[in-house]
Amino acid sequence: MTPRTRLRFPHLLSPAAVGPVSLPNRLVMSPMTRFRVGEDGVPAPLNARYYAQRAGAGLLIGEGAYVEPRGRLTPRTAGFCSETQIAAWGGVTDAVREAGGRMFLQLCHGGRVSHPRLQPGGGDPVAPSAIAFAGQVRVAESEHAGVRKVPAPTPRGLETGEIPMIVEAFAEAARRARETGFEGVELHASSGLLHQQFLTPAANRRTDGYGGGATARCRFVIETLEAMIATAGGGRVGVKIGPTFAYNGIEMALAEVVDTYDVLLRMLDRLDLAYVHLQRPTWSLRLGPEDFDVLAFVRERRRGTLIAAGEFDRTSAEAALAAGRCDLIAFGRRFIANPDLPERIRRDAPENGWDEATLYSPLAEGFTDYPTLPDEPASAPGRPAAPPIRPSGRR
Ligand SMILES: Cc1cc2nc3c(=O)[nH]c(=O)nc-3n(C[C@H](O)[C@H](O)[C@H](O)COP(=O)(O)O)c2cc1C
Repeated sequence: MTPRTRLRFPHLLSPAAVGPVSLPNRLVMSPMTRFRVGEDGVPAPLNARYYAQRAGAGLLIGEGAYVEPRGRLTPRTAGFCSETQIAAWGGVTDAVREAGGRMFLQLCHGGRVSHPRLQPGGGDPVAPSAIAFAGQVRVAESEHAGVRKVPAPTPRGLETGEIPMIVEAFAEAARRARETGFEGVELHASSGLLHQQFLTPAANRRTDGYGGGATARCRFVIETLEAMIATAGGGRVGVKIGPTFAYNGIEMALAEVVDTYDVLLRMLDRLDLAYVHLQRPTWSLRLGPEDFDVLAFVRERRRGTLIAAGEFDRTSAEAALAAGRCDLIAFGRRFIANPDLPERIRRDAPENGWDEATLYSPLAEGFTDYPTLPDEPASAPGRPAAPPIRPSGRR
C-alpha cells in the first residue's frame, strides 16, 4: 500500500474507535476458545500471557465465557460467573493493560450446545425448544484432540419465567466485566449458541412472544443487549452475529436469514452499541448460495461500527476497509500464529502459519510459543529472524 492510499482511506493501521474506546489500529483479535483454561473455567497466568502477547491489536476480544453454569458448552471453556473465575480474569486484564492493550470479553451461553455431563447436577441443557441438533458436542478431553465428541442431547425448552433470569445473568456479567478491567463486552449471538438458537426457526418453536415471527425470535437478543448496556454502559457492548454461519447445527433457508437479520439489524441500529461483529461463513459451513454477499447485506443495514471476520488476509482486509465494507477486521487464526500481527503488517514482514493440531489442544504448545519478529535491526543488531512456522493446509 502506498503512502497516498494510506492517507485517503481507512486502512489496517489507521486509528479507529469502538464506542468511547480509542483504538490505535483496525485489527481486532477474534474471540477464540482455546481449551487452555482450567477444567473449572478459570483462566491461569498462561492465559494472561497469551493475551498480553497480542496487546498490539487495536482491540482484543476475549474468548467466549459462559455467564451462568448452565451456559457451559465444553470442558475447558472459560467461565465468567463464579467469584474465582471473575477474579482470575482480573489477572488477564491487568496483564493486557500493562502491555498497552484494550480488551472486551465475549459473553456466551451454550444453550443446547452442551451435555448433561457439563451441566450442574447432570441436568438437561436448556434451549428455546426441546429440539436436539444433528451434530456432536464435546464432553471430555482425549489425549489427541483435547476433547471427545458425542451426539448432541435433546435439551429442555426454557420456561418463559426463566428467560429474564438468563438476561439478568448477562447483565450481571457485563457489569462485573467492566469492574474487572474490560473496556466492554460482546454478546455471542453466533456459532449456534443460545442466542442464535432463539433466532433460528428450526430451533425455536416458542409461542410465548419469544418465537414465531422474526421480531419475536429477535426479542431475546435485544432484551439481553438492552440489559447489558444498562449495566456496562452505552457504547460498551458489541454483538457477534453469523447470519450465514452454519455452525453447531444451525439450519436456515436464505429467505429466513434475510427476513430474520433484516429485522434484527434494524432493531440493533436503535441500540447504543459499540459495534456489530459479523462472522462470515468459514470452514465451508455456509447457509445459502455462495454468491450471497453477507457482508454487503449487513453493511446496507448497519450504519454504526461494523467488524467483519472470516478468512481475511492482509489484502482482502485492506480492500474491505478501503471500500467501506466494514470499519474493523477481526483476525482469528492469524492472531493465534502471529502475536505481533500489526507489527508484521507495519514492516510488511511474512507471517507464521498456524498449527492446526494445537488450535484446540489443552497443551501450552501452540499457545504462547509462536515467534515474534526480532527487534528492528537498528536496536538489535545481529539477532536472527524468527523462523516461520510451517503453514497449515487451511490457509
Ligand atoms: C480455535 C478457535 C476458537 C474459536 N472460538 C470462538 C469463540 O469462542 N467465539 C467466537 O465467537 N468465535 C470463535 N471462533 C471463530 C473466530 O472468532 C473467527 O470468527 C473465525 O476463526 C474466523 O476468523 P479467521 O478466518 O481469521 O480465523 C473460534 C475460531 C477458532 C479457530
